[in-house]
Amino acid sequence: MYFRSLKPAAAAVAAVAAIAPKDLKIDDPTSIKGVAKTIAAGAMSYYSGTPDKFVDLPQPHYWWQAGALMGSMLDYSHYTGDTSYDKLISRALLDQVGPEFNYMLPSHFGQEGNDDQAFWGFAVMSAAERNFPHPDENVPSWLQLGENLWNSLASRWNTTDCNGGLLWQIFASNPNGLDYKNTVSNGGFFQISARLARATGNNTYLEWAERVWDWTEGVAMIDKYYNVHDGASASNNCSDINPVTFSYSAAIYLYGAAVLADHTGDQKWAKRTEGILQAAGSFFTPFSNATNIMYEHACEQVYSCNVDMRSFKGYFSRFVYAASLYVPTIQSTIDEKWHTTALAAAKACSGGDQGTTCGQKWYVGGFDGLAGLGEEMCALETIQGLLVGDAPAPLKGKDIKTVRTFA
Ligand SMILES: *[C@@H]1O[C@H](CO)[C@@H](O)[C@H](O)[C@H]1NC(C)=O
Ligand SMILES: *[C@@H]1O[C@H](CO)[C@@H](O)[C@H](O)[C@H]1NC(C)=O
Ligand SMILES: *[C@@H]1O[C@H](CO)[C@@H](O)[C@H](O)[C@H]1NC(C)=O
Ligand SMILES: *[C@@H]1O[C@H](CO)[C@@H](O)[C@H](O)[C@H]1NC(C)=O
Repeated sequence: MYFRSLKPAAAAVAAVAAIAPKDLKIDDPTSIKGVAKTIAAGAMSYYSGTPDKFVDLPQPHYWWQAGALMGSMLDYSHYTGDTSYDKLISRALLDQVGPEFNYMLPSHFGQEGNDDQAFWGFAVMSAAERNFPHPDENVPSWLQLGENLWNSLASRWNTTDCNGGLLWQIFASNPNGLDYKNTVSNGGFFQISARLARATGNNTYLEWAERVWDWTEGVAMIDKYYNVHDGASASNNCSDINPVTFSYSAAIYLYGAAVLADHTGDQKWAKRTEGILQAAGSFFTPFSNATNIMYEHACEQVYSCNVDMRSFKGYFSRFVYAASLYVPTIQSTIDEKWHTTALAAAKACSGGDQGTTCGQKWYVGGFDGLAGLGEEMCALETIQGLLVGDAPAPLKGKDIKTVRTFA
């Protein structure tokens, strides 16, 4: 990746000016930062929280997406060095811990499944791995919050059917209640297990990561070609795999595998990382006029992406870029596919009054009129992640500390 060899931009000091996304220069870190700044502001325009208070995203966004947004913004801060949102991010993560300090929040139980909780977990783990400021002495450290959240997920491992696995939902009252087991929930548990294994060195997390991966393959939700299918019903003992694939489920497993490649040094995890990425080639090139441009094939071409799905490509990019730090062999695929996609995404961020609003379909050659928070987050993660190689790698062990003050 060519800009890796460039000198890292003067660390986090010089403020970069916002740049219109359509002017993105992909080999220039200052241009990437300027574009990311514009899109980050676009994404945050949907969030009305303050440094003193978390506020739910407007309807129809669910609670999980606020956790996902904080994850995107943690990456924004880390990759660009622009700390202007840090207090707001920190407050959101601290305000949503719930009475048990594990992101089980009674006021949001109506919207909380295992996958929803996991998305807050991804953000909390990123905060821990970066010594992100944690100013509140009444709340446990980011790492402890991650461990608490993990224990909550682990307590729901359910062996009634399918030989194990997490159900999608936690509460019977939610749609699909206690019948569907899916990869986003189990992948979330897998990835958080992997990250905790690496961060703490505690083998319990490694054993669970192995168990969740083996379970997922055992029920064939990950098939022999490394496609990550959506899920199956517990009442059929997970024999009726729902074959639909979403980009984010693949990426959630992919990143967990990459973390374990680093943590264990075992080649099987690098192979699994590469295998999922290869299978995830299905999320590119919707038409011959759009070679190597990413799309969510379950919904984009038929206009059926719901508010959740509209953000999935963002997590796909987030976790693939992050995985490249641990499994460098995937870099050639990133150079080939993500560079083309980042330019297409930037071109799609040309709507609205300012000419900077992001669209959904990146293969149309411009803004397609479908705007929203998900669209902003997808473009943000796909563009800012180009900087991953210049930012410090995730911390672990004794290097993880609790930092009380903001820089
Ligand atoms: C375990 O899963 C079954 C379905 O396989 C479900 O009926 C049951 O309620 C689940 N148990 C818990 C504690 O969630
Ligand atoms: C249910 O599925 C699991 C996992 O595939 C399998 O090990 C088990 O034998 C199945 N049980 C029944 C009753 O079919
Ligand atoms: C390892 O993690 C598990 C799960 O959080 C915890 O119960 C156990 O006490 C930890 N072990 C050590 C040695 O810290
Ligand atoms: C590529 O082809 C598809 C399908 O015909 C079309 O929707 C899309 O707008 C085209 N993209 C460009 C850049 O022309």
